Amino acid sequence: MRIHVMTLFPDIFKAYIGESMMKKAVENSILEVELYNIRDFSENKHKKVDDYPFGGGAGMVMTPQPIFSTYEYIVEKYELENPRVIYLSPKGRVFNQKIAKSLSLENDIIFLCGHYEGIDQRIIDLIVTDEISIGDYVLTGGELPALVMIDSIARLVPGVLNRSESHEDESFENDLLEYPQYTRPRSFNGLEVPEVLLSGNHKKIDEWRSEESQKITLERRPDLIKK
Ligand SMILES: C[S@@+](CC[C@H](N)C(=O)[O-])C[C@H]1O[C@@H](n2cnc3c(N)ncnc32)[C@H](O)[C@@H]1O
Repeated sequence: MRIHVMTLFPDIFKAYIGESMMKKAVENSILEVELYNIRDFSENKHKKVDDYPFGGGAGMVMTPQPIFSTYEYIVEKYELENPRVIYLSPKGRVFNQKIAKSLSLENDIIFLCGHYEGIDQRIIDLIVTDEISIGDYVLTGGELPALVMIDSIARLVPGVLNRSESHEDESFENDLLEYPQYTRPRSFNGLEVPEVLLSGNHKKIDEWRSEESQKITLERRPDLIKK
């Protein structure tokens, strides 16, 4: 999978992509992450990328030309036809595991990170295929939301996680939250690991985990079960 990120702050991505799962996925050529600094594509002699909003109001708006030129560059370079272009936006539909799964099947995804008061609506009308929010709060820019999405999508791409790290038992699989996890030592500050997990009886362990999953989901997220 190839992930393209249009941003004013490409350096924000470098540290995260250079560590842990993302680093391995890139090294193993399962994932390619291309960063584009929107400012580099500005035709303004001072490389300006924002301007005052028509109609007045607080803050600045990202101008359409640098974003559109960045998009044209990506589409031409990689010969993409109608690629998925995701604009991170508090006004978008709220991201979840189902959206992550469907996006993990794409070959190329372009992320567009907004800043200031956001981007000119005509860019949304012209190139954006999906407006996605990561939750009902406002962040300074689309960079953290893009990283949240990229991480959750990447771990669903076959080969990114190894077998022992599989996502198949994780929260939101089958609309359930994950059961409690325990590791060594058996006893910690007076609290014991549930006996069943030490029994070696895998049928019983599976049953216990399934019951715990149902219980915790009903307690914390009954909306998942009702879906
Ligand atoms: C300060 S916000 C702009 C908020 C916008 N004026 C509004 O009220 O909807 C700047 C940028 O951060 C990103 N952003 C902020 N909150 C977000 C969220 N919850 N989910 C996804 N992106 C977000 C978007 O790319 C947005 O263009």
